[in-house]
Amino acid sequence: MVSMEEELQIIGGSELEGDVIISGAKNAALPILCAGLLTSETISLSNVPDLHDVDTTINLLSHLGSTTKRHTKNEVSIMSNKIENLKAPYELVKAMRASILVLGPLLTRFGEAIVSMPGGCAIGQRPVDQHIKCLSALGADIRIEHGFVIAKSRKLKGTLVRPDVVTVTGTENIIMAATLAEGETIIENAACEPEVVDLSNMLIKMGANIKGHGTNRVIIHGVDRLYGAKHKIIPDRIEAGTFLCALAATGGNIKIKGINPNDMLATIDKIRLSGVTVKQDDGNLICSISKRPKSVDIVTREYPGLATDMQAQFMALNSISHGTSMIVENIFENRYLHVQELNRLGADITINGNFATVRGVDFLSGATVKATDLRASASLVIAGLVAQGKTTIEQIYHLDRGYENMELKLQKLGANIKRAINRNEE
Ligand code: UD1
Repeated sequence: MVSMEEELQIIGGSELEGDVIISGAKNAALPILCAGLLTSETISLSNVPDLHDVDTTINLLSHLGSTTKRHTKNEVSIMSNKIENLKAPYELVKAMRASILVLGPLLTRFGEAIVSMPGGCAIGQRPVDQHIKCLSALGADIRIEHGFVIAKSRKLKGTLVRPDVVTVTGTENIIMAATLAEGETIIENAACEPEVVDLSNMLIKMGANIKGHGTNRVIIHGVDRLYGAKHKIIPDRIEAGTFLCALAATGGNIKIKGINPNDMLATIDKIRLSGVTVKQDDGNLICSISKRPKSVDIVTREYPGLATDMQAQFMALNSISHGTSMIVENIFENRYLHVQELNRLGADITINGNFATVRGVDFLSGATVKATDLRASASLVIAGLVAQGKTTIEQIYHLDRGYENMELKLQKLGANIKRAINRNEE
């Protein structure tokens, strides 16, 4: 049997030079698209990144009955005036765990939602117990049957909810559910990520009454209905951080354009410590480095700490930096799948539980490696850009879930990288 799969081929060694424009944030676009379910009017979104996860979300909304239109590559409108189906099937949830974000909107607007249980994924178990706990506190009757979360309620009623862990999509689900609940909902221990703030700002444009978003105590006063609105998705701080790590690893000068630097201060601080000069000029970062980077210790935390979504990229950078670094992954229990692949390229990384020790080596050497999850793919791209010779990265569908035109943007910066079809004969 012959199977065809896309792969990335990189010849390492080129410094990065030039400008790169950052796309809209995946993790803001997904909940905001789902917020379209909260109103019968049209929501119009711009700066939506052109990604597989966005396609999956649009497919899911269409499956539920929303009218979805992609006006241009990055402009999408959603109208949910004829929702006829309240069930998110396994096939779509399996493809993308963030599909759980339809639970809060469907439940609060239609009194019912059936969403396939996401199950575990490569980087950890990722349960949704806190979504369920908090929506139940708002009055929903939720049970799990045959692999589905089945949620029903009359009008939800506001109350104080406190998730046991800080959860980003959990906070987003509760905020969306609370916008149409009766009375006041207070979320303590809420996630403060910029993407939660962007969703809240969109909901406010739709007529919601939300205060405290961006802090760990969010207060929502329920309203009778929400309306259509227009919104521009914030820039992707993780994509911008990925280019920063790539530059630090290869050397060179780049201008990262169209970002909100204040949303990524933890990343900018670390990258400066690694030796990159970073100058801020409005929404642009002018960055340069001409010597070998220094190893930097990394501890992942909830926002405003360093994002777990940046851990793999910093690990790739540390693997060729001067010195030894310690990495501590605090958010997901199994987020070191890239270690094995980086070591195949010659890195010297050992893991002990959620600690990793990275001894910087003088050079990496190209090989064939497999992407195992989204950010792991980005770390392999960074490693490939500095490795001697040719690196081939397989299973790049992971990368396409979350990076828009990664290889085209890198080509424009002078990298020797191309997408190719791998013909596997089994
Ligand atoms: C979101 C991001 C993802 C990022 C992650 C952490 C989106 C679409 N995805 O994922 O890119 O890596 O935040 O910043 O925004 N947990 C529970 N029970 C729950 C919910 C979460 O135990 O009900 C645990 C998780 O297993 C994990 C931690 O809480 O250990 C944080 O997860 P969470 O913030 O929920 O991640 P996501 O929202 O899935």
